[in-house]
Amino acid sequence: MNETLRVIAQRYSCRDFKDEMPSDEKLRAITEAAIQAPSGMNRQAWRVILVKDKELMHDLETEGMSFLKNMEDKTMYNRIMDRGGKLFYNAPCMIVVPIDPTQYGPALIDCGILCENIVLAASSLGIANIMCGFTGLAFASELRSEEFSKRLKFPKGYAFGCSVLLGYANTTRSPHEPDQDKIIVIE
Ligand SMILES: Cc1cc2nc3c(=O)[nH]c(=O)nc-3n(C[C@H](O)[C@H](O)[C@H](O)COP(=O)(O)O)c2cc1C
Repeated sequence: MNETLRVIAQRYSCRDFKDEMPSDEKLRAITEAAIQAPSGMNRQAWRVILVKDKELMHDLETEGMSFLKNMEDKTMYNRIMDRGGKLFYNAPCMIVVPIDPTQYGPALIDCGILCENIVLAASSLGIANIMCGFTGLAFASELRSEEFSKRLKFPKGYAFGCSVLLGYANTTRSPHEPDQDKIIVIE
């Protein structure tokens, strides 16, 4: 197995971070890897927004939790409460990826590819990570969406696509067990 395959095999989603900020050098390498992601027709209809601002992260998390709490279906809320009641698992920083919603389908695929570059680059540097779609809950109401889009410096008209939490693992875990039955070979 080569180094790339080893990083892919060992990457896991971290849900317990230390309060320690990765170095600027490592964060820079991760954001560079992000913008090297391929995109359909090279449209690059995304931005890579590194957030180290504790207050902004706190506000996004609080708004997301409050949205979950007020949902009629409590499944997701209970799931998060069972995991400690935190959407961001104490991560010291995150990357938010807004996309151009006028090309929502392809833009979302491009966003996913970019986020995968982020998590693999981070894992290769020993930086724990997890993709966090729940950050999008903070954008559910029009008012807060406008506020957060401004604070996060989204380009005009862009909408939340996905985010990745980054930091150092307080506790580690194993990635999901790959299901070999998902691979189909037609000869
Ligand atoms: C697009 C996307 C969004 C995700 N959003 C969240 C999230 O909001 N919260 C969370 O705890 N995990 C989130 N995850 C992590 C998945 O739950 C995780 O990848 C899956 O359980 C497999 O575990 P592994 O990554 O450790 O192999 C997300 C993963 C992806 C790909």
